[in-house]
Amino acid sequence: VEETLVLIKPDGVARSLTGEILRRIEAKGYSLVDIRLVQADRDLLAAHYAEHEGKPFYEPLVEFMMSGPVVAIRVAGDRVIEGFRSLAGATDPTSAAPGTVRGDLGRDWGLAVQQNLVHGSDSPESAARELALWFG
Ligand code: GTP
Ligand code: MG
Repeated sequence: VEETLVLIKPDGVARSLTGEILRRIEAKGYSLVDIRLVQADRDLLAAHYAEHEGKPFYEPLVEFMMSGPVVAIRVAGDRVIEGFRSLAGATDPTSAAPGTVRGDLGRDWGLAVQQNLVHGSDSPESAARELALWFG
């Protein structure tokens, strides 16, 4: 069975949307294998977001991700990597489709980084790398 890393970002935790997001993951039929509340440090986020280093939104993104706790979840299911990306919706909450987490619940505050509630691994290679970072 495939596994992916889901993060509920600090905006989702602060807005008390953890339960709603977990509900959607479970309602789809995916399994929660492990879950932790994590105050991420810069080293962890630099490793997690290495592909974005040097981009204009990189520093605001790392600061945002350190602004409060995140919920890290190991999620299992058939084609769960692609499936969770579908549940999450497009990166920009304003253009994310209704029915998705970001489309239904995300808000565009016009900030320097998209505070888009969730992260999901984007490939089997990313999932393996990110699960090792967040769950060791
Ligand atoms: P994740 O699941 O969080 O990885 O989102 P994603 O795969 O939809 O986006 P991506 O990996 O390209 O970017 C990671 C995060 O950086 C996004 O979720 C946003 O929070 C932020 N981000 C990405 N692209 C932009 C951008 O063009 N502008 C701004 N302001 N933020 C961005
Ligand atoms: Mg990504």
